[in-house]
Amino acid sequence: MAGRESFFWHKVHSLTGVIPTGFYMVQHLTLNSFALAGPDKFNGVIHFFESMPKHFLFFLKFGVIWPALIFHAVYGLFIISRSEGNYSEASMKFRENRYYTLQRWSGIFAFFFLVYHMASTSVLGQIKGAESIEYASWAERLAAPGGTYLVLLFYVLGVASCSYHFAYGIWNFCIRWGITISESAQQKTAKLSQGVFVGLTFIGILALVGFFKPILKAPEHSASNGSPVQSRPASIEK
Ligand code: HEM
Ligand code: HEM
Repeated sequence: MAGRESFFWHKVHSLTGVIPTGFYMVQHLTLNSFALAGPDKFNGVIHFFESMPKHFLFFLKFGVIWPALIFHAVYGLFIISRSEGNYSEASMKFRENRYYTLQRWSGIFAFFFLVYHMASTSVLGQIKGAESIEYASWAERLAAPGGTYLVLLFYVLGVASCSYHFAYGIWNFCIRWGITISESAQQKTAKLSQGVFVGLTFIGILALVGFFKPILKAPEHSASNGSPVQSRPASIEK
């Protein structure tokens, strides 16, 4: 059996790409885009998760998200190792084959991105027992190493490849599970997938922009005479 793909595990692999992984990514990028509204809103989201009961968070992380993602990634790499690419052949350069080949490459890139991303956020936090990474340290992280912004570039590519992989996956998933059978239904989901790819990449990039320029941040309140509101009464100011 080892070394051979199984129908059952292939179906589980397909399902774990959408639930919970795909669902997790959509909510994750959406909530990260709160960075656009500034530090208070972004940190508010982080503190909301921290305020959840510890055992519930632990179950979500290590009982649902991590096992599903690890299984999907490992079995996905196994599928890739067995597939024989033929896109380089002149007669095979049709659109569906290009999408399919790109999905495999985006899966490989997603793998490296997620190993780095999860190791430097969640895993490091668990090991060090450190607090979650708040807004203030993201711009610094993304500008690394030494102001070259290579980490930012890696993040942009990571967001784009995960979004492409997931979006194309929706199209394939619908065919695999018999949801779209006719040609016209498949063309409609192809349009949906394109929308999901563009939309998710956009949201992810906006989130990254938010750490440098929080363009949706509410302006500071000011008193009616135009001077900034004092947070403490003047009498107790040092
Ligand atoms: C805009 C880019 C992104 C930002 C700012 C970001 C931010 C974060 C942060 C702050 C954490 C730590 C959460 C914690 O310690 O509990 C995290 C973890 C994680 N991120 Fe991202 N992320 C981004 C993109 C992505 C993408 C594209 C994926 C793809 C699915 C992803 C998947 C994950 C996963 C699986 C975890 C670990 C979750 C856990 O352990 O609870 N992230 N991310
Ligand atoms: C971590 C690295 C990953 C690898 C190596 C990987 C690998 C793969 C491969 C090889 C396929 C095609 C399976 C086939 O043709 O039968 C696939 C499908 C899929 N993947 Fe991933 N993947 C990864 C991450 C992700 C992530 C982060 C998501 C969601 C955000 C995701 C969602 C999907 C979906 C929805 C499908 C379509 C399932 C289907 O064909 O029915 N994958 N993945």
